[in-house]
Amino acid sequence: MCGIVAYIGEKQAFPILLEGLKRLEYRGYDSAGISILNGTLKTVKKKGKVSDLEAVSATIDTTGTLGIGHTRWATHGKPDDINAHPHNSGDGTISLVHNGIIENYATIKKALEDRGHVFKSQTDTEVLVHLIEEFKNQDNLDLEQAVTKALSRVVGAYAIVVVDKENPNQIVAARKSSPLVLGIGDKEFYVASDASPIIKYTKKVVYLNDEEIAIANRDGSFVVKNIHNEIQEPVIQELDLKIEQLEKGGYDHFMLKEIMEQPTTIAESMRGRINAEEGWVSLGGLEEHQQRILNAHRIIFVACGTSWHSALIAEYLIEDLARIPVEVEYASEFRYRNPILTEKDVVIAISQSGETADTLAALEIAKEKGALTYGIVNVVGSSIARVTDSGSYIHAGPEIGVASTKAFTSQLVVLILMALKLGEKKGTIPSGMLRELIYGLESVPKKVAEILEQKEKIKLIAQEIQNKPNALYLGRGLNFPVALEGALKLKEISYIHAEGYPAAEMKHGPIALIDEDMPVFIVATNVSAHEKIVSNIQEVKARKGVVIAIVNEGDNIISGLADFTFEIPYIEEPLTPLLSVIPLQLISYYISVMRGCNVDQPRNLAKSVTVE
Ligand code: G6P
Repeated sequence: MCGIVAYIGEKQAFPILLEGLKRLEYRGYDSAGISILNGTLKTVKKKGKVSDLEAVSATIDTTGTLGIGHTRWATHGKPDDINAHPHNSGDGTISLVHNGIIENYATIKKALEDRGHVFKSQTDTEVLVHLIEEFKNQDNLDLEQAVTKALSRVVGAYAIVVVDKENPNQIVAARKSSPLVLGIGDKEFYVASDASPIIKYTKKVVYLNDEEIAIANRDGSFVVKNIHNEIQEPVIQELDLKIEQLEKGGYDHFMLKEIMEQPTTIAESMRGRINAEEGWVSLGGLEEHQQRILNAHRIIFVACGTSWHSALIAEYLIEDLARIPVEVEYASEFRYRNPILTEKDVVIAISQSGETADTLAALEIAKEKGALTYGIVNVVGSSIARVTDSGSYIHAGPEIGVASTKAFTSQLVVLILMALKLGEKKGTIPSGMLRELIYGLESVPKKVAEILEQKEKIKLIAQEIQNKPNALYLGRGLNFPVALEGALKLKEISYIHAEGYPAAEMKHGPIALIDEDMPVFIVATNVSAHEKIVSNIQEVKARKGVVIAIVNEGDNIISGLADFTFEIPYIEEPLTPLLSVIPLQLISYYISVMRGCNVDQPRNLAKSVTVE
């Protein structure tokens, strides 16, 4: 949801900003822009990708050692050159980049227009830079004071970086509900939405907290204060990230790289957390609050997108294995519906980015009501990781492709561990079964690798489906959320309309859609409901639907019925989603490539949704 990068120091700023924007492009790619301060304030911005900005910048003098950059995911105002950031003040002295939404921008805009301000764009952001200008000029404030005063008047979410031609030795950055990291180099500073543009230059970072403002000076000094002007003690952290993790590593797309990484990332998610020989499971964050979670009246999962699908699988697993009631909520619905919550509830947020605005807001409500909050998060140091009482990282490493793949399987690993640990402590899992499932988990990386080795077979199936306008995904039990995830993957990167449904619900509506042009993906790895799934396949075939079945190896019954079959290695039923989702990820990937879509940056989407 918009990427921000800024630099002040002795190096040339422009190449650092451009490279940083490329790393942040997963956050939004409607337009991009850069301002450089070098005696004058030069702003160049362009609709489209960072590469479009790069092309138009080639003919411009971009020399300078201080600058700010932005890649946009449009909210207010269509994606075009004018609405692109940075936005500049009316007098052309101040330049600002922003991620978030200024909710009261219309009121402020009206007041500023009455005072003679003229706006060029339709954005909420331009209002903020004019407000800063107004305070700076009217009250004779310096940049830092003017920014502080302006921020005290705005309602909404922001991560901003501001520069002022009249103060070429300083950048001012601030955040509320949108992430911002300050990188500390040797007499130089970087500011970015995440650490990816910074890691090449320094490992020392400060993650700003809500309503904090960082003032970074060219002489190497910096101050962090809050918007009430109180000086804060910054916590300097060491980044644990390697630059190679942010590269494509020889693959055509990040998504394919991330799919192929899963044998490793799944292993990383369980490393040090299980031991099959000794038969134990351990999840630090859970154990810290074990009694409270075991005695919870309910566990409520809040999440969005793919993370919400993980939560649905957790509902099946925790209720089945640990017998604790579970509810799964879209964070965006939960936060606005006055939910009944008590201190006996546990609210678990699942989020790859750890920054999703709706999920963060749902957690705030949970905290207010006294529930224990827990985060299952990928990005270390992210907002959700910081605001929750406890949590577990999934350790999947940076996920850049907008369509989530490896984060999903790593979330599942942590959720399975959680179900096992709770079941063990509650005595609801027989010890033999516990050990069997731990052995099963240990075998997952190898089995995922076996599936990935068959990617050519999946490509052939993709070829058959690539031109269909619609697709249906069906599954039962644990495989119903897998069906939802398969449908989401297809629609988001190939723009084929796809729906996921519980297989038995098909007869209440979607069956009306089935004809010879409708591919029906059936995730049919459930041993326990095998006959029922077979009946569902018969129902589809009777209406001439094209069945693509994901089955357990050796399932000759379904293979005999389906038009296309993909076999996954045998695994204990509670673990099947970890395997059955892999062919669905690959099918979506190949169809997207075959249709000429932008796999890693599908239209209108963003990786990290930091607006409501
Ligand atoms: C966006 C992303 C999805 C992701 C969802 C939730 O829509 O494109 O891949 O599943 O946000 O994000 P989170 O970071 O909270 O898991």
